[in-house]
Amino acid sequence: MIRIGVIGLGHWGPNLMRCFSALPDCRVTAVCDRNCDQLLRIRERYPQVQTAEGLDDLLDRDLVDAVVIATPTATHFELARKALEHDLHVFVEKPLATTSAECVALVDLAAQRNRLLFVGHVFLHSAPVAKLRQLITSGELGKLTYISSRRLNLGPVRRDVNALYDLAPHDISMILHLFGSQPESVSCQGLSRLHPGIEDVCNLTMLFGDNRMAMVHVSWLDPRKERVLTVVGDRKMVVYDDLEQEKLKVYDKGVDAPRPVDDFGEFQYSYRYGDSYCPWIEEHEPLKTECAEFIRCIQEGDVPLTDGVNGFHVTRVLEAAQQSLMRGGVPIRLVEQRYESAPK
Ligand SMILES: NC(=O)c1ccc[n+]([C@@H]2O[C@H](COP(=O)([O-])OP(=O)(O)OC[C@H]3O[C@@H](n4cnc5c(N)ncnc54)[C@H](O)[C@@H]3O)[C@@H](O)[C@H]2O)c1
Repeated sequence: MIRIGVIGLGHWGPNLMRCFSALPDCRVTAVCDRNCDQLLRIRERYPQVQTAEGLDDLLDRDLVDAVVIATPTATHFELARKALEHDLHVFVEKPLATTSAECVALVDLAAQRNRLLFVGHVFLHSAPVAKLRQLITSGELGKLTYISSRRLNLGPVRRDVNALYDLAPHDISMILHLFGSQPESVSCQGLSRLHPGIEDVCNLTMLFGDNRMAMVHVSWLDPRKERVLTVVGDRKMVVYDDLEQEKLKVYDKGVDAPRPVDDFGEFQYSYRYGDSYCPWIEEHEPLKTECAEFIRCIQEGDVPLTDGVNGFHVTRVLEAAQQSLMRGGVPIRLVEQRYESAPK
């Protein structure tokens, strides 16, 4: 039985707590939050759970084998480092850390201590994304051209990070996974309306090798909630709408390259309008699957899709995008390849 400690009981921590509490091979034995009110609330629902106000208190009392970190982004690195140094397995909510250098330090430390470092890129544990990946690898979509993603809503507004760091890790993790490679350059523009220096709206562009690109539009200042990712291949196209009952729709549509029809430079495009269909996808809650995968990987010593290296790849894009944002959107080349493996 793996003993779990949940650190951070704000908006997201209780969801992780619910999922881990429902798993058979682990038990949430302790929780920790700086805010006593949050601790009291959790105590009411889970009276058997030990409470601590800080990680040090939790570590001193030897209450857990693994921790789940659901605190603000700026605290992830220090909390994860401390937990790994105490030989605990660590699950960190997205993004793994603020900088790629911090991610490298955590990945190295986890390897030294032979402990699992796992990142909460929850969509990589979702059935629609697995199906999308299968449609791509089977060749059904043909050669990929671009992916675009929109993650919009009115709120929730954050003060600790901008909309890029808060929302885009989801889109970036999916895009790297679907392309199976890392971008060569990144550019990003954004707008701060509510608080100076904290962008509420961001537009991120990633250029990949082989003439492929991806665009991500994130905002917490939008009238409508949208969670839409479009994958365009040269044979078929897919729209993944996470708010729909039938989340994936495959379109047999496309435009074939123009052929000159005469000597005067006129071109004829051939448009294809075929059938569309919604593939059957087995429903499950991605967060539950993600938590179960963390436990399975601890038990079996397996490397998860969302390991520390995966966290590094996503944070590296965020970091470059932030540099671009601060320089008015100039493209930033991603030269340093600390981990050569392609994103899984
Ligand atoms: N996977 C998802 O879909 C998803 C959704 C929401 C949030 N998140 C992630 O979860 C994390 C937390 O987000 P949130 O919205 O719950 O934030 P939040 O601000 O609502 O809650 C954070 C909690 O952490 C506590 N805290 C802060 N520093 C602490 C420390 N050093 N030790 C102990 N407790 C501390 C705060 O008191 C607060 O209760 C973030 O990394 C965020 O990106 C993920």
